[in-house]
Amino acid sequence: MPTPDYDPKEVAALQADQLAAAVAAGIAASDAAADLDALAQAHTAHLGGRSPIALARRELGSLPPQARADAGRRVNEALTALQAAYDERRVTLDRQRDDAMLREETVDVTLAWDRQPRGARHPLSLVLERVADVFVAMGWEVAEGPEAEAEWLNFDALNIPAHHPAREEQDTLWLEPPTAGVVLRTHTSPVQIRALLQRGAPCYVVVPGRVYRNDPLDATHSPIFHQVEGLAVDEGLSMADLRGTLDLFAAEMFGPDVRTRLRPDHFPFTEPSAEVDLLCWVCHGRSAQRDEPPCRTCGSEGWIEWGGCGMVHPVVLSSAGVDPDRYSGFAFGMGLERTLMSRHDLSDIRDLVEGDVRVTLALGVEG
Ligand code: DAH
Repeated sequence: MPTPDYDPKEVAALQADQLAAAVAAGIAASDAAADLDALAQAHTAHLGGRSPIALARRELGSLPPQARADAGRRVNEALTALQAAYDERRVTLDRQRDDAMLREETVDVTLAWDRQPRGARHPLSLVLERVADVFVAMGWEVAEGPEAEAEWLNFDALNIPAHHPAREEQDTLWLEPPTAGVVLRTHTSPVQIRALLQRGAPCYVVVPGRVYRNDPLDATHSPIFHQVEGLAVDEGLSMADLRGTLDLFAAEMFGPDVRTRLRPDHFPFTEPSAEVDLLCWVCHGRSAQRDEPPCRTCGSEGWIEWGGCGMVHPVVLSSAGVDPDRYSGFAFGMGLERTLMSRHDLSDIRDLVEGDVRVTLALGVEG
């Protein structure tokens, strides 16, 4: 409604038709906004600082007081209408977004919970515990030693002096500096000495543990593997006790039908020494005979090497402060990976090293 002081040129933005057009455009833009981003753009264009309605508002100040009240009311109405259209669309779009989110991110609590295969403990951990259980049940103790071991305990005290070929055979890994005389233990045998020094005789210990050799990883070698050592020192122990113990151990690990044999061998820390073999449980030794089909499990040897053993050398007893005239003892040491590989007919040690969950699941559940 024109007034005498109203100059339509100067305050074009406040003209009724202009305002109405701005409101219509703003409402249309809000209504047309397909999503919240588009709505935000519509808000900037029609309600933001540079929108026609903002311009109209700024121009209110230049009007004479009579005109200002009337124009102000109309600007406010326009603003209210624009804001209402925006708010209404905002509510709708917010709800749409929430609905979409609920639909897309929904968790179906009725889905089966075990679609992921359950984990299993590593077969090596299980076999280590099994071995410990077998011996603890006989009244033996589980002993442990450090993996970074004194050269003296790993070699000298076990009757392997400097320059003895056994030191080279064991592909020792030395820790820096070499003069410190510390090695990554090449076998669990040093714990024989530690156990005797700590407990004295009589002494019955089983020692499961990790050992290290400077071997590259291939199908049959691993630079890190596990052994289990057994040591019994008492008055009057003989090779018969060793044999009986090994038979029981083998039966617990491989079943009651397993057969063992001792084959003469040499270890510096035992005298006499023997290799303990298991009768092949697949061909029962037959593949070693003529005209029999070959056997993969034992390589047609008929027997499977299991570990070393023997009567503790008197020098070893003396190194550990035990009187060899009063006490005797027997010892044995087996590779656990080998044991597991034999038992499950695995041909590649890497299957045990690489942590493939399929191997763990296949072997992890003790039968
Ligand atoms: N320490 C030996 C090795 O790593 C295995 C061994 C052989 C241990 C004879 C023994 C034993 O206790 O009596 O090859």
